[in-house]
Amino acid sequence: MIAGRVPQCNIKIKMNLSKQIIILGAVLLAGICSAAVTVKSLRCEYLSNPLGIDATSPRLSWIITSNRKGETQTAYQILVASSPQLLSGGQADLWDSGKVSSDESSQIIYSGLPLVSRERCFWKVRTWDRDDKVSDWSPDAQWTMGLLQPDDWQAKWIVSNPSINDTNGSLLIRHAAYEAVGQGHVVDVTAVLNAQIKQGRLKIVVNNQTMGGDPALHAVKRLRVEYEYGGRTLQKEIQENQTLILPGEVSPLPYLRKSFELKSPVQRAVLYVTALGLYEVHINGQRVGDHVLAPDWTDYRRRVRYQTFDVTGLLKRGGNAMGALLADGWFSGHIGNGGYEFYGRQPAFLAQLEVTYQDGQTERIVTDDSWRMHGSPIISSDFMLGEDYDARLEIKGWDKPGLDESQWSAVGVREESALQLDPQVMPPVRELFKLSPKTIKTSGPGSWICDLGQNMVGVVRLKVSAPAGTRITLRHAEMLNPDGTLYTANLRGAPSIDHYVCHGGGGEIWQPRFTFHGFRYVEISGLARRPAQDAIAGIVIGSDTPRTGEFACSDARLNQLESNIQWGQRGNYISIPTDCPQRDERLGWMGDAEVFIHTASYNADVAAFFTKWLVDVDDAQSPAGAFSNVSPNPSNDKGGVPAWGDAGVICPWTIYEMYGDRRVLERHLPAMIKWVDFLKSHSDGLIRDRDRGEDFGDWLSIHADTPKDLIGTAFFAYSTHLLAKSCRVLGREAEADKYDQLFADIKTAFNQRYVTRDGHVQGETQCGYAMALKFDLLPEDLRPQAGQYLAADIKAKGGHLSTGFIGVSYLLPVLTQAGQADTAYGLLQQDTFPSWLFSVKQGATTIWERWDGWTPEKGFQNPGMNSFNHYSLGSCGEYLFGFIGGIRPASPGFKTILIDPVIRDGLTWAKTSFASIHGKIATAWKVKGNRLTLEVVVPANTTATVIVPAQSITDVTEDGKCVTNAKGVRFLRQEDGKALFEVGSGKYTFASKIK
Ligand code: BGC
Repeated sequence: MIAGRVPQCNIKIKMNLSKQIIILGAVLLAGICSAAVTVKSLRCEYLSNPLGIDATSPRLSWIITSNRKGETQTAYQILVASSPQLLSGGQADLWDSGKVSSDESSQIIYSGLPLVSRERCFWKVRTWDRDDKVSDWSPDAQWTMGLLQPDDWQAKWIVSNPSINDTNGSLLIRHAAYEAVGQGHVVDVTAVLNAQIKQGRLKIVVNNQTMGGDPALHAVKRLRVEYEYGGRTLQKEIQENQTLILPGEVSPLPYLRKSFELKSPVQRAVLYVTALGLYEVHINGQRVGDHVLAPDWTDYRRRVRYQTFDVTGLLKRGGNAMGALLADGWFSGHIGNGGYEFYGRQPAFLAQLEVTYQDGQTERIVTDDSWRMHGSPIISSDFMLGEDYDARLEIKGWDKPGLDESQWSAVGVREESALQLDPQVMPPVRELFKLSPKTIKTSGPGSWICDLGQNMVGVVRLKVSAPAGTRITLRHAEMLNPDGTLYTANLRGAPSIDHYVCHGGGGEIWQPRFTFHGFRYVEISGLARRPAQDAIAGIVIGSDTPRTGEFACSDARLNQLESNIQWGQRGNYISIPTDCPQRDERLGWMGDAEVFIHTASYNADVAAFFTKWLVDVDDAQSPAGAFSNVSPNPSNDKGGVPAWGDAGVICPWTIYEMYGDRRVLERHLPAMIKWVDFLKSHSDGLIRDRDRGEDFGDWLSIHADTPKDLIGTAFFAYSTHLLAKSCRVLGREAEADKYDQLFADIKTAFNQRYVTRDGHVQGETQCGYAMALKFDLLPEDLRPQAGQYLAADIKAKGGHLSTGFIGVSYLLPVLTQAGQADTAYGLLQQDTFPSWLFSVKQGATTIWERWDGWTPEKGFQNPGMNSFNHYSLGSCGEYLFGFIGGIRPASPGFKTILIDPVIRDGLTWAKTSFASIHGKIATAWKVKGNRLTLEVVVPANTTATVIVPAQSITDVTEDGKCVTNAKGVRFLRQEDGKALFEVGSGKYTFASKIK
């Protein structure tokens, strides 16, 4: 608690007497009537007004703001009612918490009447301030419950083609030749193709990768196939980068629809809807909601997420219609690393519309065999291939009542008995921004390349006027070849080509619905004339996690790096945390998620996003306890890989640290225990020298191979340590003791095996030292030495790092904490290879997968693995916020805050803010000569320890006054050139002498 002080006001303000009286009156009135705080930003399960949740004791949070320094909440009262009317009348029929003495304003567990399916909960909160004065009520907020019981669902899964599950005859490739046109180089790929046939069908993108090699460099390739199907021998020829589909052509994506009558005026209507695949749903000609690529990716063999929409305003008495478009998506389209039709052959749709009439009667319109289907203008759509749309096939009024359905056919109904229906608990993927082309250049006869100026993820919105039948092709790429053409080699089996066929008549606007690409450049061809500037727009999509972090400093290159990190996250948090958005991968790689989560949770509010994904992580855990390499896991990998598998422990722990979320620990503790027990039983003498699965080591390090068993053992120790801490948080003391002991034993084994008496870590790599320091694996007295060896290695490499994905995320914090902050600054501002700023210097607008994705000397890296939008190496973002900005949690969820900016030569100022679950924290520091000013903003109801670099407390002022007289500031102690203070909420301006 901060001791209250009498403010020393030396500011003279001239004003007339009447004004003074009015202000004095207002101040007195405010003092008597209510607290000086405002309560706002009400959220339930991290979301604003969520619909259809399944947490039966959901967690509530709010933010308090105040103009007073040192403001705290001493109590709160929450009212929850079943209608807005009851709530405004103060009748909390679901829950009246009463006045609860507490300073907690987040993770407050609803403890009212049991909540049932469809329940509507309207709520508000008021708080008491530090003087026990009550605030006004917050604005009303709400949440609703979803369908909690399986038998709440009457809807049936429908499919467009009832016969598609039948075996349609067998397919055999008799002969297939992949050849370099006109050069005589031919590769026999008959076996390659036959191996890809699944359930009598084959769909494969033709390129060097999928065909098992390049028959001739720099030559145009094609595939010729002779195959047998239905008793006939047939032939097909296809160009490189096109998709071979056998047998025959696929049918277009379906329109699904249902006409229905509503007999009287509607009071309320709620739609529960989802798909195995992707859907877009419309009612009476209007699109429902703004979700893109819904539902999010889960392991569809066991779980799918449904969405809930209030559609009251879309319905009317009399004739109505509901229509849907349905696509393959992750369910039956191409997914990472060659997966195709992994979960099933045909997508399915599920919808339950629940209508309450004004007279209280109810009615349900559900998907069943009465729905009708028709081919849509979307000829095909696939994440990797792209989307193909023929506007001439549009059916006017397909989603409106009164359509002639005589040409529409019956749908099929499919049983999905093993599937669990869970609600959407995270922000959906949405359209986030629109980018306009920076340049449009001719790239050949009838084709132009637009540069959007930013490597982005999403689709192009096309605006054209061209005659009916004009076929426009859009090709996407992250980079350009030296000759100015699109660099697409790194897309591997993801050609990312969209086609649009015009219906004619002018003013056509189109964008693909069910695919996305990672690109900066788009080539448009098929138009008779150069496209107008507004013909192309980049529509950026991503999981709509609210941005929380802002950073800027005196080095413009670091500001670009920070922007690149933010863009990397935006483009790769698409439903799940993916590795990259452009090539045929886009998987939930666990290692990538794990190294980046800390940075991610500074950049954006990712609590709900991880709440959902961590369920996918547990779903993918093997029965033996091995966490997988990717989650969801559409492959046969057995997991168990150091650092990648450890995401199953590190991610829940990070969410706990950043948001104070105990429930995430509770929910995932069983899986965390299974993982640590798995590691123990797959080690010898607590050394992980076996069973490490595919083991990627310190992936993409630069000539610095850290022994893989050492990495395995280090992560085994770290996961065990975090598990022990998690048990402790949850009050499971006996288990906490057990895993603390195990951690101590692994540490002993680690030191015996890998650490010399003078603190050298085997392998002498930066990654090895970074892990040993970060994971607390060294005896206390050896830590400084290890820090010095680490700094010495960086120096010996000319001020360069050598770490890959794993070591890189710990490097800067451990250097700083080991007293090597100058080296950390040097590394961060290094701009020759390998370094963060090397790619920035080359004009990067996102984080590259490799330190040398492109170099002036060698050009592009191996296209087999050369993504220009991979966030992992951007995990240094944590350092920008937590160390340069100096904003770190002193207790989980930033209820108490540590403000400890690291200020070194190289930067003269830095401005950082982070919107924590308790409100916005900010720092801004500036150095001029030997003078430092540090502005700090601490949100209401939190306290902070502020560390001000200063030789002595006598050198420190706050708000221009000697700091000992400053209001709300308590001096703690002076240590090592730093003065430590405790402050309550408010804005402070410290100044000190630093040299
Ligand atoms: C992915 C990575 C991933 C790695 C495993 C790559 O193909 O793109 O980001 O972590 O495989 O080493």
